[in-house]
Amino acid sequence: MAKDFKEAFENTRSAGIIAAGALNEINKIIKPGISTGEIDKICYEYINDHKAYSAPLFYRGFPKSCCTSVNHVVCHGIPSNKILKDGDIVNVDVTAFKNGWHGDTSRMFKVGKISIKAERLINTTFEAMMKAINIVKDGIHLGDIGSTIQQHVESQGFSVVQDFCGHGTGEKFHKEPNVLHYGEKGTGEKIKSGMIFTIEPMINLGNYETKTLKDGWTAVTKDKSLSAQFEHTIGVTKDGCEVFTELS
Ligand code: MF3
Ligand code: CO
Ligand code: CO
Repeated sequence: MAKDFKEAFENTRSAGIIAAGALNEINKIIKPGISTGEIDKICYEYINDHKAYSAPLFYRGFPKSCCTSVNHVVCHGIPSNKILKDGDIVNVDVTAFKNGWHGDTSRMFKVGKISIKAERLINTTFEAMMKAINIVKDGIHLGDIGSTIQQHVESQGFSVVQDFCGHGTGEKFHKEPNVLHYGEKGTGEKIKSGMIFTIEPMINLGNYETKTLKDGWTAVTKDKSLSAQFEHTIGVTKDGCEVFTELS
């Protein structure tokens, strides 16, 4: 691997492990009765303790260190004094910025006992992300990623959000390419070794449409159905990819 690839991978890995570590801390304390603001505090402190910054904080005016998206919130939920209750599902999205590089990851948490439908939605969303990660290698098309996700999700009767997508990341939080979570096999840009981007499908129980609330951030499903999301930051190699946002 060329030296600049190697550096980019090493730096993204360092940031990615911190972001994954923050989610791991959150997993230890999440339960009915905790507020999304308390989750944000744990995220802020963990990232700070690891000599990194929370990239979302003040990003385009975003007021908190992570996004907490509960139930029908698709993404970009703002941590607050909202208390999580038994049966809620929540996505926490964390991005660490370390030595000038970003690691961006999110996962679902189950609060207490959740419904079977919610369980199926979460499992399908995770599977869709992993199926996409598993086909990534030098030379495939971006549309291969989108179509892999869309096919799996629709086979389970769920829908893929189209208003938000994955993205290149690195020294900038968000950069080209846009990584759509739907599409046609064999279409779109070819991906190449050394590229670093996120795959972060948002999947709805009902219709795919979303709207943004008056706070300018919180995106919700138009039909108020549940939504789930997982996200990893990955680096493309000749015959596969490295997932940077995973604890070994
Ligand atoms: N982490 C989100 C992503 O996956 C972006 C959050 S931007 C914020 O791209 F400002 F809402 F935090
Ligand atoms: Co992202
Ligand atoms: Co993210």
